[in-house]
Amino acid sequence: MRLSTIGCGYLGAVHAACMAELGHEMVGLDVDQAKVDKLSRGESPFHEPGFPELLRRNVESGRLRFTTDPAEITDAEIHFIGVGTPQMKGRYAADLSQVDAAVSTVLEHSRPRGERPVLIAGKSTVPVGTAEGIAERAAASGKDIAVVWNPEFLREGFAVKDTLHPDRIVYGLPEDRVRGTVIREILDECYAQLLEEQIPRLLTNYPTSELVKVAANSFLATKISFINAMAELCEATGGDVTKLAEAIGHDDRIGKKFLRAGIGFGGGCLPKDIRAFMARAGELGVDQTLTFLREVDAINLRRREGTVELAAGLFGGRLVGRKVAVLGAAFKPDSDDLRDSPALDIATRLWARGADVVITDPAAGDGLRRARPDLYVVDTVEQAVKNADLVMVLTEWKQFTELDPAELLPRVRGPRIIDGRNVLDPHRWHEAGWDYHGIGRGVSTW
Ligand code: UDX
Repeated sequence: MRLSTIGCGYLGAVHAACMAELGHEMVGLDVDQAKVDKLSRGESPFHEPGFPELLRRNVESGRLRFTTDPAEITDAEIHFIGVGTPQMKGRYAADLSQVDAAVSTVLEHSRPRGERPVLIAGKSTVPVGTAEGIAERAAASGKDIAVVWNPEFLREGFAVKDTLHPDRIVYGLPEDRVRGTVIREILDECYAQLLEEQIPRLLTNYPTSELVKVAANSFLATKISFINAMAELCEATGGDVTKLAEAIGHDDRIGKKFLRAGIGFGGGCLPKDIRAFMARAGELGVDQTLTFLREVDAINLRRREGTVELAAGLFGGRLVGRKVAVLGAAFKPDSDDLRDSPALDIATRLWARGADVVITDPAAGDGLRRARPDLYVVDTVEQAVKNADLVMVLTEWKQFTELDPAELLPRVRGPRIIDGRNVLDPHRWHEAGWDYHGIGRGVSTW
């Protein structure tokens, strides 16, 4: 099929390349010329395992193109909307200006051929009610353009796998069954290969499909904040939250995943999605329904200050002049994404308290240097830990979880380590002579 993707950021670029991989002819449209040039050369603008190979292969085959010229999307049968919906400045609500602009572009440039409608397939995370509004605009355009909401659940670090082998596919369809069936058939044709794999495909209406995405992210955020609340209790009592999580996780009604306590969640999705969800609930007059998400957010943010306090406490409350090596800046490993990164937030707070902070990250270093010239960023762990009074693992990159405590010991000035992700073995670090501190991880002989 001939397809287009509007917006070539994380979601859009990966989606575009994956659709080309399925054999479709794809054109990715973006307003950022530099990004389009880079993608057109087969170079990834972000760090994502497996993506550069996929991108190059499909650009070289000619099935995948990128452009800033909207005239090039004219013949596409499906236009995927993959633009960002960031948090509005100073407000909780999502900024939908990019979605609105993408829809305008499609309505202006798309040229339906008559036999069946052209689709706008929304993938961006949007407040409930958005798809209906877009469908009204499409109907008013006088062109045969239909709208389906088809949320994307990809995780950074697993983006290619999550797009080509998702857990489920959701179609949000209009209530008109005849029209809805035609839309379903078109999208089924696009995803034929995925459907052959028996990936569950759920058909529903617009509001449900929009809610599915924010509900999923709210649930994940709640799970993380739940375990971080338990970490606070463990800190108050000498308990070990990692054992607690393991024990409750054996109950498969609870499950082991997303119960890793630590410095909390960040990134371009979870924090802004729960805030936009609360804002939307307020607009709908059901704000009380989601007040618990305020607490989820608060617990999450408290972890950041709590970790700074933990660090300060190791020096009698004063960080001035202490050299702190921060290992990790990205919001999670296998990513160079610094958006709302707890690691970077903590590093910034330490610096503001007078600590001499040195940061290293295997992928986010260059981006960090550009975004934050005020911070001191080095390339290697060796450089970062040299003469450090404190080492902090804040993003669980494999390089950091595999560090050898004995080898690191002679490089530092004070053998103190804060394991912000509870990924190190406390006994091993103790035995090697380190003063180890996890998050909610009282040290027990067991
Ligand atoms: C998330 C959703 O998982 C994905 O389905 C959605 O499409 C986009 O948002 P992503 O932002 O890539 O994906 O990150 P995710 O893997 O969910 O992690 C989010 C944050 O939570 C990270 O900062 C991570 O370190 C933190 N986290 C995750 C924890 O603190 N503890 C956990 O147990 C799991």
